[in-house]
Amino acid sequence: MRIGSAEHKERFCRQFIDTHQRFDPETLPWPVLDDASLERMRTVPFWQEVLHTERRAGAIVRAFAETIADPLVREAVDLQGVEEERHAQLLSVMIRRYGLAAEERPLEAIGPDLHTAFTDFGYGECIDSFLGFGVFKIARESAFLPAGLFTIFDTLMLEETRHIVFFVNWMAWQEAARGRGAAWWRALVSAHYYGRAIRRLVGTIRAGQKANDGKDFSATQASVFLDGFTFRRFIEECYAENARRMADFETDLLRPRFLPSLARAALSGLRLLPAGATSAAKS
Ligand SMILES: [Fe+2]
Ligand SMILES: [Fe+2]
Repeated sequence: MRIGSAEHKERFCRQFIDTHQRFDPETLPWPVLDDASLERMRTVPFWQEVLHTERRAGAIVRAFAETIADPLVREAVDLQGVEEERHAQLLSVMIRRYGLAAEERPLEAIGPDLHTAFTDFGYGECIDSFLGFGVFKIARESAFLPAGLFTIFDTLMLEETRHIVFFVNWMAWQEAARGRGAAWWRALVSAHYYGRAIRRLVGTIRAGQKANDGKDFSATQASVFLDGFTFRRFIEECYAENARRMADFETDLLRPRFLPSLARAALSGLRLLPAGATSAAKS
C-alpha cells in the first residue's frame, strides 16, 4: 500500500470509523470512592486544564471536519470530534460526581485557519498521549485511584491512541496528495510542528505553575503516586506503553515516531550513566 494513495485513505479512515465505540459517560460504572480516594482525586490540580483541553479539542476537530471535501475523511474527522466532545462530557460527569474543583472556562476563538488549528492540535495530541501513557501506567500500578476509575480512563486512552494513529496517517496522506510526500519533507514538516507543540506545552506548564502560586505539584502532591518515580522509569513506561498500545494497530498504518525515537535515544543514553546518577535526576 502506497502512503498517500486512495487505498491508504480507505484503510486509515475505515480503521478509525470501524473501531468507534458507543457509550454514554453518564451510565459508565463510576465507582463509589472512599474518603481517602476522594481526597487524592481532589489533590490533582489539572482537572480544569484537562476539561478545557477536551472541550477545545471538540470545537477544533468538529469545525475542521466541516471544511473537508472528501466524504470519508470528513466522516472520520467528525467522528473524532464526537469522541473529543464525549471526553469533555466524561470529565464533566466525573467532576460533578466527585465534587472536584474545575469550572468551564470560555473557549478561546479558534481563528480562521482551521487546517493549521487541526494540525497543531494533532501534533499536540501525539505528545500529550505519549506522556499520558507513562503517567497513566505509573498511577495505575501504584493504585493511586480505585481500579474502576482506571478502567474508565482506559477507554479514553484507547480513543486518544486511535486519534494519533489516524492523525499521522491523515497528515502523510494529505501531504502526499499535495505532491509533498517525500520522506525528507515529512520529517521537516513534523519537526516544525513538534517544535511548536513543545513550545506550547512548556507555556502551559509555566502558566500552571504560576496559577498554583509557585507550588509545584510534582514536588508536593505527586509523591503519593510517584513513589519510586525516576526520570528513567517515566521514559521507560511511556516507551513501553506506547509500544504495547500501538501493537493493536495494523502494521501497514503509520504511527507517531518522533517521541518513541527520542525516548529510545534518551534511554540508551541513560543506561550509560551509573544507576545513582539517574535516580538523582528525579522529576
Ligand atoms: Fe480527547
Ligand atoms: Fe483526542
